[in-house]
Amino acid sequence: MRILALETSCDETAAAIVEDGRAVLSSVIYTQIDLHSPFGGVVPEAAARQHAETMNACIEHALSEANLSLSQVDCIAATLGPGLIGSLLIGANTAKTLSLLAEKPFRGVHHLYAHVCSNYLESSLEPPFLCLLVSGGHTQLLHVKSYKETEILGETLDDAVGEAYDKIGRLLELGFPGGPAVDKLSTSGNPKAYPLPISKIKTPYDFSFSGLKTATMRAYEKACANEITEISKVSENQDLNRIKKDICASFQRTVVETLFRKTHACAEALGVKTLAIAGGVSANQGIRQRFKQFAQENPDYTLYIPPMDYCTDNAAMIASSAFFNPITHDVNQEVFSRMPVIN
Ligand code: KG4
Ligand code: ZN
Repeated sequence: MRILALETSCDETAAAIVEDGRAVLSSVIYTQIDLHSPFGGVVPEAAARQHAETMNACIEHALSEANLSLSQVDCIAATLGPGLIGSLLIGANTAKTLSLLAEKPFRGVHHLYAHVCSNYLESSLEPPFLCLLVSGGHTQLLHVKSYKETEILGETLDDAVGEAYDKIGRLLELGFPGGPAVDKLSTSGNPKAYPLPISKIKTPYDFSFSGLKTATMRAYEKACANEITEISKVSENQDLNRIKKDICASFQRTVVETLFRKTHACAEALGVKTLAIAGGVSANQGIRQRFKQFAQENPDYTLYIPPMDYCTDNAAMIASSAFFNPITHDVNQEVFSRMPVIN
């Protein structure tokens, strides 16, 4: 079954064609980063307008990349939520219209479950497995018991990991989005420069990042006040750059350890030996390395991490989810902006 899927839940306009949930025939992403950069965050109204302007070209691009016509796809799918309501409406209404015009069945998809499904793309992963889902809006530990049954074992009590990264990026004036910039800068910093706390929560598999975010902000302010020399402008900039690198590295090290320890403890308790990571933050080099190192040292574990192109928002994962676990086949189903719960 070839599914043409559309994704417009936030600031990426994406279309893809995937066969039987795994084989990617095409995947096109029109990013809006340049549009939102001057504002330091996604402007919802601007995002929706841009989706409306580029959606048709994006679909044509995906069809031509796969060398297919609309009549050669079997089903049209779209993200129904959660996400920005104006943005969601563009992709969902386009998919519904195409489905009615081309007389192809429609499938609606849950954005978070689709991130999990990014691990099925071009891979042989099958449930059951434990999935760490880390995106801009959500942080969850999911026990994927079968293609259609997923249990949430833990989630963030405050900020999502991506959100925390973006806030630290903003604090350090690293541009938008902050996550990839913090990740990049952290590679040249000292991860032990500023000891930051791993938050302790009573519920073992839940997360909290707001305390870490505040501690990081304080460490940065203190370092700027205490460590920047007043000798010349040049050394001041050098000092500031070094502090920023060390702050990024210290923050990243703490986040990675928190995510890894919780995931590992959860896997051991469940006796699940197949691990997967998903969501935009799974593009993070520190997280990828930590989990890969663990899997290398523990061959009884099998690790799945999506290729970089399928970590952040894309439509191939929407097509995969439409194949394995759509939330609806009903073309009349409305979009929803908030719904953190899967299933
Ligand atoms: O999954 P995603 O594309 O959108 C949501 O569904 O939220 O995730 C976007 C988030 C942003 O917060 C972005 O800063 C973060 O993923 N992100 C990263 C990296 N790449 C993207 N965070 C840390 N390190 C990265 N390399
Ligand atoms: Zn996403």
